[in-house]
Amino acid sequence: MEIRGIIFGVLLSLLSMVRGEDPYINHTWNVTYGIISPLGVPQQGILINGKFPGPSINTTSNNNLIVNVFNNLDEPLLFTWNGIQHRKNSWQDGVLGTNCPIPPGKNFTYRMQVKDQIGSFFYYPSTALHRAAGGFGSHRINSRLLIPVPYHDPEDEYDVVIGDWYTKSHTTLRKFLDSGRSIGRPEGVLINGKTAKGDGSDQPLFTMKPEKTYKFRVCNVGMKFSLNFRIQGHPLTVVEIEGSHVVQNQYESLDVHIGGCFSVLVTADKDPKDYYMVASTRFSKTVLTGKGIIRYTNGKSGPSPDIPEAPVGWAWSLNQFRSFRWNLTASAARPNPQGSYKYAKIEITRTIKLINSVSRENGKLRYALNGVSHEDPETPLKLAEYYGVADKVFKYNTIKDDPSSDVGTTVKIQPNVLSLDHRKFIEVIFENHEKSIQSYHIDGYAFFAVAIEPGKWTPEKRNSYNPLDAISRHTIQVFPKSWAAILLSTDNVGMWNLRSMITENMYLGQQMYFSIISPERSLRDEYNIPDNALLCGVVKGLPKPPPYT
Ligand SMILES: *[C@@H]1O[C@H](CO)[C@@H](O)[C@H](O)[C@H]1NC(C)=O
Ligand SMILES: *[C@@H]1O[C@H](CO)[C@@H](O)[C@H](O)[C@H]1NC(C)=O
Ligand SMILES: *[C@@H]1O[C@H](CO)[C@@H](O)[C@H](O)[C@H]1NC(C)=O
Ligand SMILES: *[C@@H]1O[C@H](CO)[C@@H](O)[C@H](O)[C@H]1NC(C)=O
Ligand SMILES: *[C@@H]1O[C@H](CO)[C@@H](O)[C@H](O)[C@H]1NC(C)=O
Repeated sequence: MEIRGIIFGVLLSLLSMVRGEDPYINHTWNVTYGIISPLGVPQQGILINGKFPGPSINTTSNNNLIVNVFNNLDEPLLFTWNGIQHRKNSWQDGVLGTNCPIPPGKNFTYRMQVKDQIGSFFYYPSTALHRAAGGFGSHRINSRLLIPVPYHDPEDEYDVVIGDWYTKSHTTLRKFLDSGRSIGRPEGVLINGKTAKGDGSDQPLFTMKPEKTYKFRVCNVGMKFSLNFRIQGHPLTVVEIEGSHVVQNQYESLDVHIGGCFSVLVTADKDPKDYYMVASTRFSKTVLTGKGIIRYTNGKSGPSPDIPEAPVGWAWSLNQFRSFRWNLTASAARPNPQGSYKYAKIEITRTIKLINSVSRENGKLRYALNGVSHEDPETPLKLAEYYGVADKVFKYNTIKDDPSSDVGTTVKIQPNVLSLDHRKFIEVIFENHEKSIQSYHIDGYAFFAVAIEPGKWTPEKRNSYNPLDAISRHTIQVFPKSWAAILLSTDNVGMWNLRSMITENMYLGQQMYFSIISPERSLRDEYNIPDNALLCGVVKGLPKPPPYT
């Protein structure tokens, strides 16, 4: 049996050698400013090849994705690829802890592989509050033809990026944050960069042929608010959440938290006319609503002005979270090879509890995790570590795994890096003592989102974890005065950002890094620093360390 397995493995790898490299998808991006008026007020936007939102990326599992970014802004720039796992390759993650930003007038080529992944994702500019001005777009990863998908091929697929929107420029908003103030509330909600006016002049965002089924890939790329997503008169059948095929339940509407993505099927089996697709803010005092038109190709009239109501309160949203189940029989790449999907049977070797807090340091607003408000040093953490000069740039492990709950009272502003052992199975608890919702994302990984519950976490609460079919995903919300638990296999070497997806919180320090190193400096565990890596800070001019072997 064993031997046969090995022979089969060797044959497979021979076969792939014969077939050659995985295919390439190449993009060249010209990133510029341009005037946009998504809410009717002209403002400076960030365009990619003249577009707002940026172009959609369309890849298939295992494709190589090359994006050569030309920065024609007047500020340093980085893009990050939400949900892309970058196996062995945090060099491409595009956050300040791994990459030097691309200087104005220069370019940098990201070289990524979307290894063993499927699903709906997005990219966005990760620094300097650029996301407030645009630069984001969809990224879909299709299943390979050989791998069956647990539903019929839809007639077509549509990318939908939804998000709250500020009419102030990113530089104005950044000045607020730099001076210690909040950016306040957004002015509206956009669907693919616009919102319908409802005066008869709106062009449809999407069209559907009668009786056909379409797949909509929906991501919340916004700054502050969770959004409720719905389509007049049409139920949404959820088929995929952040890279996992799920049990196909129907919903009237979905709460999409910041950084989160869903794929839904929608069938055009209603009266032939126009319908509104709606995204409206959740848990906000004033509800902001964005709309877009879906048109039946044989449609005879415009949309009804009656917008279906959004649910109220967060208990509804928690129940919806509990209803999401992984489809255990659908074939797909499994996220943790050694554990298969029986994650509840794997021994947890470390528990890290992260408590978020907000405070004022010298009168200035700061957000923290376990009492540390992260600050990016000039030298990216990953580069400092690789060049062997980490001690000149940051200290590891300045936070405790099990903090006391008064973490908010004294906050230190410094880099926040925890080192994790390679190939362990850990538990991360997010405890939110505040009145506002959180949404966390971890780069480089998919994790099992096993529970979100009200109150505080204790070890006994493990009894409430979903032991069977929790979804493997990359973003998780934490409701007010609640906790969330995730399980993670630390099998991807690199420097990986964990962040609040709420932009203001992230910008003002509510983020940190997990450092997982390959002690043998083995190519089996991590790729070498790419030849085109930009260097900055203390590593600039240092001799390059010997390559991994
Ligand atoms: C895409 O990029 C790869 C790697 O840089 C290169 O080998 C290939 O020729 C490019 N393909 C096209 C069509 O430009
Ligand atoms: C990028 O766009 C700007 C503005 O449209 C244009 O001036 C510039 O030539 C473009 N650069 C490239 C490399 O295409
Ligand atoms: C995306 O790529 C797949 C696979 O190459 C192709 O079949 C499909 O038509 C593409 N879709 C779009 C919208 O480009
Ligand atoms: C900039 O683009 C050129 C191609 O126009 C490419 O050869 C070069 O590698 C890119 N620079 C970086 C740092 O990726
Ligand atoms: C799960 O996937 C299987 C296999 O593709 C499919 O037949 C089944 O309908 C799916 N189950 C649910 C409940 O969505």
